[in-house]
Order: sequence, then C-alpha cells, then structure tokens
Amino acid sequence: MSSIVVTGGRPLSGEVRVGGAKNSALKLMAAALLAPGVSTLRNVPDISDVAVMSQVLEHLGAKVERADHSLRIDATTLTGHEAPYELVALMRASTCVLGSLVGRLGRAHVAMPGGCNIGSRKVDIHIHGLTQLGVQITTEHGFIDATGRATGSTVSLEFPSVGATENLLMAASVGQGTTVIDNAAREPEIADLAHFLVAMGARIDGAGTPTITIEGVSGLHPAEHTVIGDRIEAGTYLVAGALCGGPVTVVGFDPRHLDIVLTKLRDTGAAVEVGAERVTVRRVGAIRPVDVATLPYPGFPTDMQAQFMTLMAIADGDSVITENVFENRFMFADEIGRMGADVRIDGHHALIRGVPGLSGAPVRSPELRGGAALVLAGLVAEGETVVTDIHHIERGYEDFVPRLRALGASVHIVDELFE
Ligand code: EPZ
Repeated sequence: MSSIVVTGGRPLSGEVRVGGAKNSALKLMAAALLAPGVSTLRNVPDISDVAVMSQVLEHLGAKVERADHSLRIDATTLTGHEAPYELVALMRASTCVLGSLVGRLGRAHVAMPGGCNIGSRKVDIHIHGLTQLGVQITTEHGFIDATGRATGSTVSLEFPSVGATENLLMAASVGQGTTVIDNAAREPEIADLAHFLVAMGARIDGAGTPTITIEGVSGLHPAEHTVIGDRIEAGTYLVAGALCGGPVTVVGFDPRHLDIVLTKLRDTGAAVEVGAERVTVRRVGAIRPVDVATLPYPGFPTDMQAQFMTLMAIADGDSVITENVFENRFMFADEIGRMGADVRIDGHHALIRGVPGLSGAPVRSPELRGGAALVLAGLVAEGETVVTDIHHIERGYEDFVPRLRALGASVHIVDELFE
C-alpha cells in the first residue's frame, strides 16, 4: 500500500494541464460497445478506473489497446453480456455497460454495484427507466437481468441521476420509436456522451438540458471522439491555488463547466481570471467563509465538496456545507478533523468553524475526492501529512503527485515496505 507524504507551507504557482474527464471517458468506453468495429477515444486519462473499464470491455469480448492517451476499442465481436460482480464491485461505473449491452445485444446481465464510502449507489432509477422503455428487467441474486431493446417512451426520472441518464441514452439510441428523458441529468459529461453517440449515427436532441429526445435507429457505426477536459480535476488544482497562494493556472478544460465553483472561489476572496480554456486562481489575503450546497449540475458539484471543505477549514469565520446528492459523503470531515479542522456534522450539513491553520498528521483517504482533498490540506498544513489508501486517489487523478510537485509542492509517494 503506498502513501502520499506532504510537507506543508510551500507556496504553489505555475500551470497544470488536466486530462480527459474520468466521468465521461468511462461511459464513452461503454458506448463503444454499441457499434461493431473499431472506435477511437482521445484524451483518455491514464487512471486505474479506465484500466478496470478496459477489463470489463475485454470480458465482454471487445479488444482495447492504449497508445499514450488514446484508446482503440474493437467491439466487432462481443462474446458475452455479463458484467461480473468482482469487476462491478471494483468500480460501480461498470454498470454503465447495461445500456450499451441492451442497445447492441438486447441482452445484459450486470451485477448490482452495492454501496460504497459515499452512499448506497442504488440503481432503481436505471431499472425503472429501462422498464418504461419496454426492456424486460428482473433483479435477483444481486444481478440486473435485461432482455429486449428500447421501444420508445417518455421516462421521467425521479432524480436527475447521471448514470441513469447515460444508461437510458445508450439503450434508447439503438431501438425503435422515440424516447424522451425528462428531468435528465445535465452534467457536461452527458453532452459529451451524446456527441459521441451522434457521431456513431444516433439521433439525439437536448443533451445537456433537462429534456433529451432520442429517435431509435437500427444500428450504430464506430466513430472517433476526444474526451472533454476533467472539470473536477481542474477544480481540485484551482482550490490548491486558492489555498497555497498561486497564481495557479489550470488548462485543458472548459471553464464554463465550473461556473458555480469559480463564483464560490471568488466569494472566498480569491482572485479568479477566466480565459478560453484556462483559469488562473490566486489567494488574496484571508479566506472568507462561504456557504455551499451541492446539487445536480449546474449546481455546485458534489465531487468538489471535500476540496471546498478544505478551503473553508482555514477560512476567517464559520461556514455551512450541505451535501444534497449523496447520503454519506462527509467521511472526509473526520480525517481533516485530525489535522485540527473544526467540523461538526449535523445530518447532511457540515458546520465548519474556520481555524487559523491545520497541522500535518497521518490520515486515510476515505474515497477519491476526499483523498485528494486531504493532500490539499497537507499542502497548507504545518508539518508533515501522510495520506494512506491512495489507491482511491489513483482511480481518478493521473500523475497527481508529479503535477503538484511541478507547482512547487513538497510531496512524494512512499511505497510501504510492508503490505
Ligand atoms: C456520477 O455518479 C459520478 N460517477 C460521480 O462521481 C458523481 O458524484 C455523480 O455522478 C453525481 O454527479 C461517474 O460518473 C463514474 P447519480 P452516479 O446516479 O452516476 C442516487 C467521482 O468522485 N441514485 O447522479 O452514480 C444515488 O444514490 C464520482 O468521480 C438513486 O437513488 O451518480 C446518489 O445519492 C463519485 N437511484 C444520487 O442519486 C439510482 O438509480 C446521485 O447519483 C441512481 C442514483
């Protein structure tokens, strides 16, 4: 098990380029299964979740080859329709093959993901939506079993679930009739998936809005696509700049995908300059306390909640962070509390009383974003912080340590001698 060791107090400045969005790349890989032939995805991040999704695709009979940051996916022949529990348990996003297997084969057998460190990760909205599309679904022995293709219908999501919207988008692309998804998720990764599906011959309107219309077609053909920049990876480095001085410039993503986050960073007193594909953040004196409530896009992203809590932990006053998307995403608060932060959890509210500074300590990554936020806390803490369980971080951040070092951070990875 490796750890990240951070020595706090160093000012950060410089430029960092983010990679392709993890939460788009994984779904684009699943979408490639919809078309017999070879699809190419560019700007794919080199992270462990992509490696796991490659295993899922190969388990289904596709061939996946990586060349630098491009993936060549040959889905000519699929030999199965099952996403096994051991792979889904490794990465819940594997459930996004459900929609593409229904579209391509009219058949899918996908393990239910089960819970994780941030919540129950249910799939009832996926199941209800597919059923409304005319797909026969049964759930037994921990698996979702689907038979048949979409026959067109209007599906109203009870919650704008990102994963459910994506599965329904992929299933409805190959089928009969017109499907309308109401109360659809609007995250930029949804529009990115729709762009790829349209390039493959799908007929989709309204992706990125709450109402998406899909005209089912008989089949799709392979295509090439470049993954959009990772807005959450970008936001993570921008918070590092707001914490440690900056100016830190982040390039390689669309700043419009972080609107509310940039507004909130400005509200804390940070100087934020926005360019076409770049944002520069600089700390200007004390960090002002700012309340945040996470919501589906375009609201404040839940995936930036822990990083923002790190900023609020040393703000010049009290703030409240409300987590409305996941039911258990405050485990990070217990860990940053060990570094001297004053955070009290009251249901889905975190009451944060700003302290003058944090002190370095051994802490444990609870999950992907909390782990990254603990490293950020170490950057600004007095002394040394050792972050363990960094496999969580490596799921979604390529070269996290080298990119922070390039900004001037004193941070390195230590491989534990003993497992
Ligand atoms: C995606 O998860 C992202 N993961 C998450 O990022 C992100 O936090 C989330 O969207 C919200 O933006 C990937 O894209 C791989 P949801 P997803 O379905 O699709 C409940 C990260 O750190 N729900 O919008 O699972 C669910 O329990 C990860 O990169 C149901 O109740 O998110 C949760 O409370 C973490 N029933 C809420 O909705 C369902 O059928 C949001 O889930 C589906 C979801």
